[in-house]
Amino acid sequence: MTVFDQLASRYDAWFDGEEGRLIFQIELAAIQAATQTAPRPWLEVGVGSGRFAAALGIDVGVDPSENLLKMARERGVRVVRGYGEHLPFAASAVGTVFLIVTICFVDDPLPVLRECQRVLRPGGKLIVGLVPRESPWGKKYTAAGRHGHPFYVHARFYTVSQVESMLSKTGFTLEGCRSTLFQPPDCVAQPELPQPECSATAGFVVVRARA
Ligand SMILES: C[S@@+](CC[C@H](N)C(=O)[O-])C[C@H]1O[C@@H](n2cnc3c(N)ncnc32)[C@H](O)[C@@H]1O
Repeated sequence: MTVFDQLASRYDAWFDGEEGRLIFQIELAAIQAATQTAPRPWLEVGVGSGRFAAALGIDVGVDPSENLLKMARERGVRVVRGYGEHLPFAASAVGTVFLIVTICFVDDPLPVLRECQRVLRPGGKLIVGLVPRESPWGKKYTAAGRHGHPFYVHARFYTVSQVESMLSKTGFTLEGCRSTLFQPPDCVAQPELPQPECSATAGFVVVRARA
């Protein structure tokens, strides 16, 4: 059983707090901006409790945590239990794969990215949402992990360049970036519009790539 199973309710409740609600809307807007012309069906790997999947209209989600999947089902998201390293789909069956704050929680992103490449049809899209390691948010979460935060102690954050290099190594072609969450930790007070650039200071970056 993983920490996401043990603390599923705590994980999901963060989205209902004042800051969580606003950050969710800020991140969602950046992901939505990257979904233009993204072919269906849409798969989210690491779907969690289905907050983003429900809001984005994702067709199917995969996650190892049964307790989070139960919540995703209650939100009307179609889900399958599984791992990003062994996706329960045929080759070329998927139009677009989403990885939203999940790359930092898998043991090694490369096997997951290879598996995404396998299930995507040629020309399909991969949309990766990440907290850049060098951003104020990445530094805050890394420090929280060092101090034993139950979720972040399991996370390994990457810079945008590292993620882009992993995407290239696994055969993806980079298509573009959106950056958002420029407000620093503990100071998020208003909505933000995503910027069509790759910023090292943004707390949330969405990278889009082509299979
Ligand atoms: C921070 S949560 C993100 C969940 C959801 N994408 C969201 O943004 O709310 C990370 C998720 O990755 C999942 N996860 C961890 N290891 C995984 C793996 N090997 N394959 C797929 N998902 C995994 C966890 O169970 C958890 O739901």
